[in-house]
Amino acid sequence: MTQRTLTGTTLETLVSLSKRRGFVFQSSEIYGGLSSVWDYGPVGVELKRNVKDAWWKSMVRERDDVVGMDASILMHPDIWVASGHVDSFTDPLVECQDCHRRFREDKLEGDTCPNCGGTFGEPRQFNLMFKTFLGPVEDSAAVVYLRPETAQAIFVNFENVQTTSRKKIPFGIAQIGKSFRNEITPGNFTFRTREFEQMEMEYFCEPGTDDEWHEYWMNWSMDFFTSHGIRSEKLRLRNHEPDELPHYSKASADVEFVFPWGWDELETISNRTDFDLKAHAEKSGKDLSYFDDQQKKRFVPFVVEPAMGADRAALAFLADAYDEEGEGKDKRVVLRFHPDIAPYQVAVLPLSRNDRLVPTALRVYDVLRPHFNTQYDDSQSIGRRYRRQDEIGTPLCVTVDFETVEDDDAVTIRNRDTMEQVRVPVDNLETAIRDQLDLMRNDSQG
Ligand code: GAP
Repeated sequence: MTQRTLTGTTLETLVSLSKRRGFVFQSSEIYGGLSSVWDYGPVGVELKRNVKDAWWKSMVRERDDVVGMDASILMHPDIWVASGHVDSFTDPLVECQDCHRRFREDKLEGDTCPNCGGTFGEPRQFNLMFKTFLGPVEDSAAVVYLRPETAQAIFVNFENVQTTSRKKIPFGIAQIGKSFRNEITPGNFTFRTREFEQMEMEYFCEPGTDDEWHEYWMNWSMDFFTSHGIRSEKLRLRNHEPDELPHYSKASADVEFVFPWGWDELETISNRTDFDLKAHAEKSGKDLSYFDDQQKKRFVPFVVEPAMGADRAALAFLADAYDEEGEGKDKRVVLRFHPDIAPYQVAVLPLSRNDRLVPTALRVYDVLRPHFNTQYDDSQSIGRRYRRQDEIGTPLCVTVDFETVEDDDAVTIRNRDTMEQVRVPVDNLETAIRDQLDLMRNDSQG
């Protein structure tokens, strides 16, 4: 087991590493940037895709009781009336009477403006949904909303999905997609933004079994993070106080992670009862109850929902993986990602850009890339290239040297965490890499 040498790092370090290595860039940077909006670069997009794929695999593909769907962002505006978002999806906003900066009242410490010390006016409720217009006429009849959660598309498709998938209750519907919230105070890098991706699953169950399923999905969520490498001591479950509960929830718990600024919400698991299905049945006039043919009874299912942000999860994986070793010029920054989360699993590095090495290195690259997400890099010195791969968390580097070409057709595999090197014939390389990644998977169970 590799010892990690550091328990945490600052947000500034993560933001600067993200920019330097192509994880995340400020949106619209050449125009001065757009506040609290971020773009994923070539390395970051692989990280976020791996987080989403890991979730989809564990949540949908490896289970018989969960199916997926992918709905549009724009939906009928009545959905947001029925769901309560038009009336209740608000945060209390206060404005400083001196500098006119606006803040979320419930997140303020003290009652004076943190910017200028001025006093606030009366709080008002600010609705977080973005509005736009459907079609060419910009009047109130054409108003639609950018969805603030992916969940509602699942509720309104409950019957379509249940009948076509022929799933029996209990079963779940999962979705990954963009959501939008006009947050009053976004911040902390990709933690709270106005455009983000969610990974949500609505689990439909019989009333009376909901508390048990709530417990089950809380444990499942903790396991998801630890089995993909986040250390368990950096995670905890926290039940919501009654005054924190969202308007639809009977009980909610957050999976919290120690972000660089302290414990904060990573995911929320809520017991939404039959609130949403009943509300949509009433507003749409469509019966959304379920007939249980074994028990010969009809009921409106209760729903338990694990709801996670893909961006927030990617940030947690990044923060947890960050490590530093050594000092001065021997200092090494290394991201100790679980192999399924790491942006690349393998890098192929010829010792130099020598004409005799490059064709063999490219052949090795071709052997590996159908099986692993592989990067090829022949720029700069080999030492710098190892450092670069450590900084993006590539578990294994494969080096092609003159011995490979002249003598043994074998290559060196260097392990990111132990820095140990083993020599392996190219013929056995795929198996050797698979075995080493498996060992690293076991090693990085949180
Ligand atoms: N359907 C329930 C729901 O949306 P939520 O607690 O408001 O519940 C679920 O959101 C998750 O979505 C959060 O735990 C967080 O990971 C992510 N999330 C919410 N708002 C976000 C924002 N402004 N920026 C980034 N992620 C956000």
